[in-house]
Amino acid sequence: MLHAVLISIPDNDRSVPGRERMHRQREAAAQALDESARLSGLPRLTWDRDAAGVPVFDRGVCWSLSHKTSVAAGVVATTPVGLDVEIIEPRNPGLWDYVSTPWEQTLLAERDWPTFFRLWTAKEAVLKANRVGLSKLDACRLVASPTCSGATLTFEKSPWLVTFFASERILAAVAHKGAEVAWHQA
Ligand SMILES: CC(C)(COP(=O)(O)OP(=O)(O)OC[C@H]1O[C@@H](n2cnc3c(N)ncnc32)[C@H](O)[C@@H]1OP(=O)(O)O)[C@@H](O)C(=O)NCCC(=O)NCCS
Repeated sequence: MLHAVLISIPDNDRSVPGRERMHRQREAAAQALDESARLSGLPRLTWDRDAAGVPVFDRGVCWSLSHKTSVAAGVVATTPVGLDVEIIEPRNPGLWDYVSTPWEQTLLAERDWPTFFRLWTAKEAVLKANRVGLSKLDACRLVASPTCSGATLTFEKSPWLVTFFASERILAAVAHKGAEVAWHQA
């Protein structure tokens, strides 16, 4: 069982200076990782990133985090895992073609922003599980229509499962190789 933890960040809107906003987000993400480690019975690490910003794993513990202005999230596991969280809000419509191929778009039931963020968080989570950035987006492909709860993708032809958390404002995704995911809100 994977325990993914979401933490809301109050009063962190654009009136807060950028550096302070980012500090709050990273603190909240570290708290989410601490809680995920506790729930999973895994050691609490120092959650360091390497010089390229990629999470450093230790003692066989893998982890992933994500943070946006009003929410942060973390998940800790003993197998590769990736997590992404996004605020559902209208974006540049050109992003549809950046994130998905015409064929992938035929797999999607709707062309609305919640559907877009389902696909976007799924792909970001799979990229993070593979410890690569957006430059590898084209290696990540949806293989079937996503459901409310999850999606199946491939990264360089290797299969990945994604489990979603969705609310009216937030979409979050955890990518894994086949596990149950419990979402916790703190
Ligand atoms: C890495 C990436 C997936 C992060 O996604 P994001 O939605 O911007 O930000 P999130 O909050 O969800 O995730 C950030 C966290 O991902 C983690 N991360 C960064 N690089 C990572 C990698 N290669 N693999 C796994 N996790 C990574 C870090 O923990 C980071 O947290 P930190 O900024 O507090 O150190 C993505 O932005 C990316 O590819 N960046 C590379 C630079 C790039 O291509 N930028 C394009 C615009 S110029």
